[in-house]
Amino acid sequence: MDGETEPLTLAPDELRRLGYRVVDLIVDSREGLRDRPPVVTGQRDELEALLREPPPAAPGDVEAALELAAGVVLTHMQRGDHPRYFARVPGPSNPIGALGDALASGMNAIATSWAGGSGPTTLELVVLDWLAAMLGLPPTTEGVLVSGGSMSSLTAFATARAVRLGGHDPNAVVYCSDQTHSSLPRALRIIGFAPERIRILPTDGAFCLQPDTVAHAVEQDRAAGLRPFLLIATAGTTNTGAVDPLAAHADLAQAEDLWLHVDGAYGAPAALTERGRTKLHGMDRADSLAVDLHKWLFAPYEVGALLVREPGALAHAFTMEPEYLRDTIGDEPSLRDRSPQLTRTTRALKLWLTIKAFGTDAIADGIARGIGLAERAELQLRATPGWEIVSPAQLAVVTFAHERIDAAQLAARAVTDGYAAPSSTILHGRSALRLCTINPRTTDAEIDATIVRLTELATR
Ligand SMILES: Cc1ncc(COP(=O)(O)O)c(C=O)c1O
Repeated sequence: MDGETEPLTLAPDELRRLGYRVVDLIVDSREGLRDRPPVVTGQRDELEALLREPPPAAPGDVEAALELAAGVVLTHMQRGDHPRYFARVPGPSNPIGALGDALASGMNAIATSWAGGSGPTTLELVVLDWLAAMLGLPPTTEGVLVSGGSMSSLTAFATARAVRLGGHDPNAVVYCSDQTHSSLPRALRIIGFAPERIRILPTDGAFCLQPDTVAHAVEQDRAAGLRPFLLIATAGTTNTGAVDPLAAHADLAQAEDLWLHVDGAYGAPAALTERGRTKLHGMDRADSLAVDLHKWLFAPYEVGALLVREPGALAHAFTMEPEYLRDTIGDEPSLRDRSPQLTRTTRALKLWLTIKAFGTDAIADGIARGIGLAERAELQLRATPGWEIVSPAQLAVVTFAHERIDAAQLAARAVTDGYAAPSSTILHGRSALRLCTINPRTTDAEIDATIVRLTELATR
């Protein structure tokens, strides 16, 4: 390559200059976050006009492309890390984690096999052990990092099926609740469970699935000659933050020989706090646990973990040893053998850097703060005429309704107004507004001002 540039790269100085520009764009966008609305939705035709073109055949102006990306593409979206983004489940993220992603991508990191990625593999094993310890799971717990909660539960179900059923059984039955996140029944359908083998059981007045309800359904299914197989409990529902009685579900699962999967995608990190630990009592008895790191563990998108009680269960479900991989097969663990993904980056790096930078105490404090912010919102709502609490603050979610306006309409009004973004839902048939307050950078004043603004918007 004497005297010419290598293909598909840039001269080092040029690369540095553009890299620094990217860092500036990131820092500027974070600095200006509070001054912008939490959600900006564009017009399809306007965005198309700015972005649609035939793929350019010739080299172009990278700097201009970066400005277009930062100024148009990445400004027309929700900012889950905006301190007044309270919709669904925010992604508070953190900038150190983002640097971890940049580093991993910049070095094209791979955590697929031991032979090809022993460093990233070791880091992921360390981070998985950290997670198990932080969440109070047994030290023998094994895991794998995936893209998020949906993939974590899907991977769990394929594992449970391989271990407990040894393959597909059309008579196997799964139990979940009307508050189970919809990605879980979807995952079951993807791996081949017929809808009539998925029992979506009613929750009680507090939106919790009671073990008696499950026990009754299991009894009926056994009497009908079916094979009860998997029980799904939720540690923090998306709708209300409700936590199913996990210890009682663990007892039931044990007695009925069911695999207990706990969906802690949202709520499991609360176990880092004293109050959360009490609420999540029994979570350590799950056969598998899904937890999102891009929600309440403050990692940038996308990363979730699956943690499994039985050593070797993941490898049993996912190991493949074709001839073209034989040079990379050995005694040390290869993470390709723990999920459906072969080529995989180091998602561990962003969480590892985050924990190295801030420490687990700061993360626990951040989680405790989120719980407190929802309680503050509840107090403000109770003190303001016109509002009714639909479900009290639980694990940083509070739901409520105003006497003058439907929740969905008010949520839309608030998003358009641009100060704060709540979301709406339907709880046992009742329309409700919800705030999910897991961003520790949200100030008390912002919570108070959000309630004032929502009240104004409701009564306008
Ligand atoms: C309780 C719960 N489970 C599962 C999911 C799905 O997770 P992901 O969006 O990371 O796939 C979510 C997402 O909000 C959730 O709140």
